[in-house]
Amino acid sequence: MIQEQFEINTNTTLPSRINQVDWDDLPFGKVFSDHMLVMEYKNGAWQTPAIESFANLSMHPATSVLHYGQTIFEGLKANKTENGEILIFRPDMNAERFKESCDRMCMPQIPNELFVECVRKLVEVDRDWVPNKEGYSLYIRPYIMATDEYVGIKPSDNYKFIIFTCPVGAYYSKPVNVKIEEFYTRAAEGGVGRAKTAGNYAASLYPAKLANEQGFDQLLWTDGKTHQYIEESGTMNVMFIIDDILITPSEESDTILRGITKKSVIDLARSWGIKVEERKVSVQEIIDAIRDNKLQDAFGIGTAATIAPIAKIGFRDEIFELPPVEGRNISLRIKNSLDNIKQGKEPDTFGWCLKIK
Ligand code: PLP
Ligand code: COI
Repeated sequence: MIQEQFEINTNTTLPSRINQVDWDDLPFGKVFSDHMLVMEYKNGAWQTPAIESFANLSMHPATSVLHYGQTIFEGLKANKTENGEILIFRPDMNAERFKESCDRMCMPQIPNELFVECVRKLVEVDRDWVPNKEGYSLYIRPYIMATDEYVGIKPSDNYKFIIFTCPVGAYYSKPVNVKIEEFYTRAAEGGVGRAKTAGNYAASLYPAKLANEQGFDQLLWTDGKTHQYIEESGTMNVMFIIDDILITPSEESDTILRGITKKSVIDLARSWGIKVEERKVSVQEIIDAIRDNKLQDAFGIGTAATIAPIAKIGFRDEIFELPPVEGRNISLRIKNSLDNIKQGKEPDTFGWCLKIK
């Protein structure tokens, strides 16, 4: 069995902080569980991972990740069921995407089984930190960073793999307003848009800040070449419903992150007989559908955001108000079903969840 296959050391030194947590007021990403997992890469191999007390890192000022951004991350969630079991949502998919990001960023891969076992063991150790309240989850953040102490540019010879976890509430507390971006670019063909790497997020900060100043929560990115096709939003993939068809930008190009929530929503919708089209989605098509009152729904999907209804879309000088969120039956059904599967309230017919008893 996997559990016996990998050695993971445990060195806890600090007392638990769990009694200091206000479980009724959990902001996203600001409360950290007691432990973290650390695994070093040196001499051409990953070393034995260790679960340690959550603590600050100490780094040489020339550590290469700080200068050149050779780093990748993942995001996944665990929930507690009514009878106290823990369900981790699709960690195998994160493991696979992590490997793809490793390749693109010249970093040594971590085998899927080891990645999943590291996640599983850490969540097991901090199982008391997994919330069992509606709308709350344990967010799990694995990442690898380049740790050579060197000023020149080359792929690092040394790396650190770390996983920490955070009990979290909603990432967006209300429906989001997004602006279609026609000047700035998140990712270019041949670039690193498909990888979950820090630079994609750093590059998006300035255009997102400009959009925030205009009253938008996020950007709706378009392709870098023509700005005529919708790609994804800041931390989410996007979906639209027109004529009862679920439409979402395809991932043929290497500019869009291959979302795990997106894949799950597509599988769920298809299993209910809903027609799904993964294809190029033009800005014009969406604007025309809004003007013709045919756009029934638009929403973002992602691990942190879950299903985030889009309330308004800004395009050039216009702001379009979308149909009221309460009447959006398809995305509400998707959200409920996905939440139920994650919380063990609905049968996991796809076999998505890894259970910790
Ligand atoms: N796109 C970007 C840029 C993201 O950061 C995320 C979040 O992970 C997503 C899409 C959604 O991916 P997933 O559903 O795997 O979380
Ligand atoms: C996630 O949904 O896991 C993300 O990566 C979004 C994050 C940047 C908060």
